[in-house]
Amino acid sequence: MKKVMLVFGTRPEAIKICPLVNELKTRKGIRTVVCVTGQHRQMLDRVLEIFGVKPDYDLSIMKEGQTLFDITAAILEKIKSVLERERPDVVLVHGDTSTAFVSALACFYLRIPVGHVEAGLRTHNIYSPYPEEFNRQAISIISRYNFAPTSLAADNLIKEGRDPSGVYVTGNTVIDAMQHTVREDYRHPELDWVGDARLIFITAHRRENLGEPMHRMFRAIRRVLGEHPDCRAVYPIHMNPAVRRAADEELGGCDRIHIIEPIDVFDCHNFEARCYLCLTDSGGIQEECPSYGKPVLVMRDTTERPEGLKAGTLRLVGTDEDVIYSNFTELLENKAAYDAMAHACNPYGDGHACRRIADILELGTCDPWTGG
Ligand code: UD1
Ligand code: UDP
Repeated sequence: MKKVMLVFGTRPEAIKICPLVNELKTRKGIRTVVCVTGQHRQMLDRVLEIFGVKPDYDLSIMKEGQTLFDITAAILEKIKSVLERERPDVVLVHGDTSTAFVSALACFYLRIPVGHVEAGLRTHNIYSPYPEEFNRQAISIISRYNFAPTSLAADNLIKEGRDPSGVYVTGNTVIDAMQHTVREDYRHPELDWVGDARLIFITAHRRENLGEPMHRMFRAIRRVLGEHPDCRAVYPIHMNPAVRRAADEELGGCDRIHIIEPIDVFDCHNFEARCYLCLTDSGGIQEECPSYGKPVLVMRDTTERPEGLKAGTLRLVGTDEDVIYSNFTELLENKAAYDAMAHACNPYGDGHACRRIADILELGTCDPWTGG
């Protein structure tokens, strides 16, 4: 029997890897061990609860205002004994967080094989997003199994010299999670508050946007909302205190914006499906909104998700106040520009990524995802 350990620590990793934990648990040839780093606490625990995943190990590393040094040092120190004790046949990490990178590094030090879920995303600029692009490139060097969500991501890996026999196109596991979340009859008090107005859905948290870029983003949003009484914005805010300070300063007292605590993933997908458009610097939301045909203004200078740009549902607007202001205004006032972006497409998967990854780990083969 193969022992597969899954290590993750933040909300987006949990959303995308818990469905895989549950799939692996159904496999006779696999024993799963779950280790969370606790890089996030409340935001992680809620996802574990929703998917019914109980960790075997919890490194509990989070502290307020943690730096990259804090996260890296704490995980490296605490995960060693877990890996030595369990000696898994393979460790799965997800995406590009510090949890994923440091856990892969620890496996490398102990010569334990790594499988990378959501492998091959690239901007080719290690400072954007920061530190995620570095993390994902470094994990690729270490990984034996690379589970790419799209064929474009797989091409990136092969161009970098990864062994093609270890690169699999599986689709993105987030699409698996999305199969069961959106409901026609979904209700929420915030949606009652929005009523017949156009719902603008906002999220923001990227490290490289903290400080002045985030202030510019929020100022642009406030200006546009001030000029459009038929819009109401809901912004489930990240728990990072630096994000909260910026939002308080720039958006506080604006009666067309509700800043609320983080919402559950079930709620988040339903808000995305209901919104008129989304403004975000999130990675995952760039994958989810295209499925619902919702235009996304990506408040970043780069994206590692060109599939959505190509499909037309994403527009990269950076963090300049006037650029965000004019793009946001255009989508509210120019129906043709809006319609050109608002069409459902799903380049990221068919909902069977977890089954494919489990097949590869258990049987050594799978039917590939040919979309993307
Ligand atoms: C992390 C990831 C980022 C990912 C994001 C998803 C790194 C370096 N960054 O960034 O790639 O996009 O998660 O959200 O791996 N906090 C809480 N409770 C929580 C979570 C966070 O209080 O449940 C606060 C803490 O004060 C913490 C701070 O937020 O110190 C920042 O968390 P951290 O994980 O360092 O950075 P994120 O911006 O969340
Ligand atoms: N999400 C959530 N609640 C929120 C905001 C986001 O459940 O209040 C979900 C969202 O649906 C997506 C994931 O969290 O699946 C994205 O996480 P985040 O933006 O924090 O990180 P990123 O994807 O940028 O790494």
